Amino acid sequence: MRVGFVQFSPARYAVQANIEKIQALLDGMDFDLVVLPELANSGYLHDDPAALRGVSEKADGSGPFLGALTKIAKEHRACLVTGFSEISGERLCNSAAALSPTGILQVYRKTHLFSTEKLLFAPGDTGFHVFSFREVCIGMLICFDWIFPEAARTLSLKGAQLLAHPANLVLPWCQGAMLTRSLENAVFTITANRVGEESGQGQTLRFTGRSQVTDPTGMCLAQAGEEETTIKIVEINPRRALNKQLGPGNDLFADRQPRFYQL
Ligand code: ACM
Repeated sequence: MRVGFVQFSPARYAVQANIEKIQALLDGMDFDLVVLPELANSGYLHDDPAALRGVSEKADGSGPFLGALTKIAKEHRACLVTGFSEISGERLCNSAAALSPTGILQVYRKTHLFSTEKLLFAPGDTGFHVFSFREVCIGMLICFDWIFPEAARTLSLKGAQLLAHPANLVLPWCQGAMLTRSLENAVFTITANRVGEESGQGQTLRFTGRSQVTDPTGMCLAQAGEEETTIKIVEINPRRALNKQLGPGNDLFADRQPRFYQL
């Protein structure tokens, strides 16, 4: 399976420009699954909630961003996982969609909102669920979900072989922590971070890039630079994530002792 990420700087409110950037980066590439950053349609910081609302899309794929990305998924016969600003009635959600040639496979709403996101978005209410693409079991996380190990664990216990992780990272620790999320769950992870800088909501944020693919032993298989706009694709064998054996004497899932994890 050929998997990877697109790392770029989504422009605020410029949905068509963001689609064109993504399209240009994917053009001519051969892949089965690509992960794009968090809020790839809208940008991250928003002083004007009405403007954010104006570019937010329903989870049914009827908007221009998810519509265009579904078309790209069809053309490439591949799965795209992208972050997007979702509108659901009065609520905005920081969401991720898994898009396949046949349409939307799943939408996940970010559970653990970070900092000033809480002023814009409703906390996610979907919980953690897996979906299947080409018989590979996949789960989605969004950015700050990384620091809550329960998120990756829940998806992994539900059978996820690969965690697709759109991100807009500003803290320096996630890329290192995802090596541990991979190792402790024996899964592949793809963190698609953004680059660039944004000002708004009383702050200036510089996003940290270094998007990466990790394997079930916590090895980094590919990593982007801190500032570059790029796409990276690597070949993986997802079946490796079905084996939870760590050396001859341990199985990471069978050896768990959940009766001692109750509070
Ligand atoms: C983040 O969750 N976007 C840091």
